[in-house]
Amino acid sequence: MGKKYIIVTGGCGFIGSNFIRLLVKERPDWSILNLDALTYAGNLDNLRGVQGHPGYRFVRGDIANEAFVRQLFSSLEAPVDYVVNFAAESHVDRSILGPKAFIETNVNGVFNLLECVRAQGKGRFLQVSTDEVFGSLGDEGAFSETTPIDPSSPYSASKAAADLLVNAWSHTFKVDTIITRCSNNYGSYQFPEKLIPLMIINARQRKPLPVYGTGQNVRDWIHVSDHCLGILAALERGVSGQVYCFGGQAERTNLFITELIAQTVAGTTDLITFVNDRPGHDWRYAMDITKVRAELGWTPLMPFEDGIRATVAWYLENEDWWKPILSGDYLAYYDKWYGQLAPTTKGGSL
Ligand code: NAD
Ligand code: TYD
Repeated sequence: MGKKYIIVTGGCGFIGSNFIRLLVKERPDWSILNLDALTYAGNLDNLRGVQGHPGYRFVRGDIANEAFVRQLFSSLEAPVDYVVNFAAESHVDRSILGPKAFIETNVNGVFNLLECVRAQGKGRFLQVSTDEVFGSLGDEGAFSETTPIDPSSPYSASKAAADLLVNAWSHTFKVDTIITRCSNNYGSYQFPEKLIPLMIINARQRKPLPVYGTGQNVRDWIHVSDHCLGILAALERGVSGQVYCFGGQAERTNLFITELIAQTVAGTTDLITFVNDRPGHDWRYAMDITKVRAELGWTPLMPFEDGIRATVAWYLENEDWWKPILSGDYLAYYDKWYGQLAPTTKGGSL
């Protein structure tokens, strides 16, 4: 494949850190610049073991800061071959509490990166997007690359806005771009505000397991290792200007997942507490992966049952990773968000 120079933004987050770990293993001669603002979700501990790798370098900075991003690109010893943008505000519930940071990072940050790649006159920009830009499905059907975007939450609207910018920079300025849209990830190093790690950690601490609404909403779960392999395949073999959709082929209701975790970790489902629904809660996500199977030869390798078992085991064995996170900032968010979601007796509506 040859030696490449890559900027990975958001490399201290959940998926970005898993992706950098994959690069170090599979592309050991690449030069990797990890650009991350270290927000509440960014954690240098996610990259333990990688810091000493000869081709790896970390720069702390904000992609929404135009002057900083420009200066960083102009200070590079050579133009980069790839920019893979994971940096984002990524949690739907936080986007309901405070949407502004989502616009700044997810929209303005992408604009800044696109402009820098355009100014380089070379290099491929890969935007890590989400199936949430498509909005919500009913009980039937699946999203694919041809589904119109129709986002519902401030988070998904900001990601959709970024995707539109990426397409415009491809179309108008001929910047070499790829967009990947993936379903819900799970695995090690996921911040415990998201469903799976939150339920594991709460169950471990014998705290209530807050299920929104009826718990019948469906997500299509993919192990983070499969998503990272898909991003690498799209980066190296994708056709410029194209969108590639990845999904785990593992649709599960939130209640199924929560009961599984409750039983595995606490040996009981008594901790499950139905609470008021998330406003604007998308009902169901599912992905048709025909295109990536055919064009990238990609398929999800990790069966859900194996992946969830390994993930539960990882969180139980790595309290030293998550215990420090459950401090001031996290508790303030937790109390603010869950404090307003009153328990419901019937597992139901508002
Ligand atoms: P995360 O919240 O765990 O990590 C985000 C990272 O970005 C953190 O390290 C944070 O410090 C960094 N960051 C945030 N704002 C920044 C800024 N302004 N400048 C520089 N760095 C900044 O997120 P994640 O779950 O790893 O998601 C990564 C990407 O994948 C996001 O773009 C998200 O939209 C997308 N995605 C996530 C999922 C999922 O299930 N988690 C699914 C599909 C797509
Ligand atoms: P989440 O992990 O936040 O991902 P997303 O909203 O991006 O799909 O949530 C996954 C599903 O789990 C979603 O339908 C909302 C639900 N959920 C709960 O029921 N309780 C919770 O405490 C959380 C965080 C999520």
